[in-house]
Amino acid sequence: MSSLLFSLNRSVSPAMQLHRPSGPDIRHLRLNACANVGLHPPEDLKKAGLSKEVMEEEGRVLVGTYARAPVVLSSGKGCKLYDPEGREYLDLSSGIAVNALGHGDPDWVRAVTEQASTLTHVSNVYYSIPQVELAKRLVACSFADRVFFSNSGTEANEAAIKFARKFQRFTHPDKKQPATEFISFSNSFHGRTMGALALTSKEHYRSPFEPVMPGVTFLEYGNIEATTQLIQRKNIAAVFVEPIQGEGGIHSATKEFLCSLRRACNDSGSLLVFDEIQCGLGRTGYLWAHEAYAVVPDIMTLAKPLAGGLPIGAALVTERVATAVSSGDHGSTFAGGPLVCNAALAVLQKILRPGFLASVSKKGQYFKELLIIKLGGNSHVREVRGLGLIIGIELDVSASPLVDACRNSGLLVLTAGKGNVIRLVPPLIITEQELERAADILLAGLPALDKGNLN
Ligand SMILES: Cc1ncc(COP(=O)(O)O)c(C=O)c1O
Repeated sequence: MSSLLFSLNRSVSPAMQLHRPSGPDIRHLRLNACANVGLHPPEDLKKAGLSKEVMEEEGRVLVGTYARAPVVLSSGKGCKLYDPEGREYLDLSSGIAVNALGHGDPDWVRAVTEQASTLTHVSNVYYSIPQVELAKRLVACSFADRVFFSNSGTEANEAAIKFARKFQRFTHPDKKQPATEFISFSNSFHGRTMGALALTSKEHYRSPFEPVMPGVTFLEYGNIEATTQLIQRKNIAAVFVEPIQGEGGIHSATKEFLCSLRRACNDSGSLLVFDEIQCGLGRTGYLWAHEAYAVVPDIMTLAKPLAGGLPIGAALVTERVATAVSSGDHGSTFAGGPLVCNAALAVLQKILRPGFLASVSKKGQYFKELLIIKLGGNSHVREVRGLGLIIGIELDVSASPLVDACRNSGLLVLTAGKGNVIRLVPPLIITEQELERAADILLAGLPALDKGNLN
């Protein structure tokens, strides 16, 4: 009997009901999975052939938006992930920089299960305690005075876009044409919804869906002169910038660049928005990436790691920005619900523990040096760069053969940039031994770059 259909047996689709299996209850298996997240998945979870089935079924029932790696992941603990056949992977992808505490962190699990059994969702028609607590903590540990919660990174940026436009209208009530335009940069990634997409530099992502939000000018990341000149024209509502670009290929801004943006925005009245959705919340070894530059934004957007794997986003703003936003201007049914906020409180508490950020810095530095020593001699390796545990290995060829070789050897890594950068964003709790293993697997996989890039 098909074990995949078996796992889908709660579907209301009549077709699915037809395939309803008679084997043991999958809910029982899931419980076992939680109770046994030891070194290897329990024997009864090792399902020969299940991965193949899942992949085939996916191709039939999901919209084809993802070019997935041929791996099905069914359980995890710490920095290890397992497929249904019991194969182990060392996770240096963290669900795209999300699982900061790894998989199954006991404090996070407790926060989620306790909250789930108390109160999961109430909407923003009512007050809820974890939401207010989380906002208080975020305000206490950042430049911000107030928080708006969303459900994802792209939505956090949509909120920032709307707040910026509203801010310009609010602060210039007599102006016929308040500033409505935006500046974004080469290699930027801000999301997939129509506003955030308009700020995302890759044309290939935007062009099938045009017209996206008008009024965005893309400038070269780091070009102080061009950016200052455009901001001085005073029709710019906000400048969106990632202090360290993730998807774009792990490019770090310079201090001079961010300082110049801050100065020009101050002079013109434009808002400065830092998108820290990927680089924020401890990944760089600083709580916020912009702390490394000593430059403060007007709005900072967050998402990925904030709730340790549950969907959340946030726009953190100054009081000056918040004053322009009124009741009814923006909102979301799910955002800031008790469950995700309690999960986020557990994440924040752990990242703020004394020594946690210092350990990220130390491990990041160690890993970068190790990678330079081990891989730097290979002719395909152009540069190893990054800060803390957001590291890029730029190659002179496509990184895909190396990603595949690593996966075949039990290591999960991502690409970035134009597909020529290996992106390493492990859980922040990773150990030095695990980083050493990752570096060894990467080293052993390098010959794949010659074989896989022959044409
Ligand atoms: C810097 C940055 N901004 C925005 C987003 C969009 O976040 P989400 O996928 O949660 O909508 C991402 C996602 O990769 C990102 O890296």
